[in-house]
Amino acid sequence: MRDPLPRGGLIRKLWVGEADSYCDHLLRLDADSRRNRFAGAVSDEFVRHFAELSFGIDAVIHGFFVDGTLRGAAELRSIGAPLDRQAEAAFSIEKPWQSHGVGSMLLERTLLAARNRGLEFIHMACLADNERMQQLARKYDAELSFDFSSIVGEVAAPRPTALSLMREILADSHGFATAMLDVQSRLLRPARGADHAASG
Ligand SMILES: CC(C)(COP(=O)(O)OP(=O)(O)OC[C@H]1O[C@@H](n2cnc3c(N)ncnc32)[C@H](O)[C@@H]1OP(=O)(O)O)[C@@H](O)C(=O)NCCC(=O)NCCS
Repeated sequence: MRDPLPRGGLIRKLWVGEADSYCDHLLRLDADSRRNRFAGAVSDEFVRHFAELSFGIDAVIHGFFVDGTLRGAAELRSIGAPLDRQAEAAFSIEKPWQSHGVGSMLLERTLLAARNRGLEFIHMACLADNERMQQLARKYDAELSFDFSSIVGEVAAPRPTALSLMREILADSHGFATAMLDVQSRLLRPARGADHAASG
């Protein structure tokens, strides 16, 4: 059995004020991944504007961090009228971290967030040749029913329960605590130059 997340990895929601990290992550995507993420080729300029506008009140973005750097993200954004219960989801994982189970974990967290917000239909723009994304979605066909011709997933259990809400709260508090520990340990870690100076 492989590790649930690659070594040093952490998944947590992005905070308001992390638009720059999100932008840097999206700009680091290789050409194919960028094309798949945005369902077509887009310029750096487009990506910068997109990241700036991403942190609206109707968006939940989960990030995958390795040693404090954002290496993957899953965006869930409600669309249409509130009663439509529709949302759009999109995933981006930098190439060295693809095919290590990160997308699966991000999709699980996104489905939990969708359920707790009463969202029933999740649209994903997925290019026809993006097999990995299609495989990923198929893995969750117990929770989602997908129609790949229009790429709409229907969440099987849209109603939030006390347990599903508790799972999200626990994941958030764990992500927050781990992020704080990560910041502290990086602040306490002596700089390389300081090491040499101390030993010299
Ligand atoms: C698509 C994407 C989100 C998938 O995430 P990932 O972390 O690479 O996927 P996972 O490792 O969780 O694998 C999910 C499933 O895809 C399949 N898969 C994994 N690697 C694959 C590969 N190289 N080719 C085909 N299928 C593959 C497997 O069925 C796997 O499940 P399993 O390992 O339990 O059998 C990620 O690769 C990515 O960000 N790609 C670039 C952007 C993109 O395509 N976004 C999607 C459109 S919004």
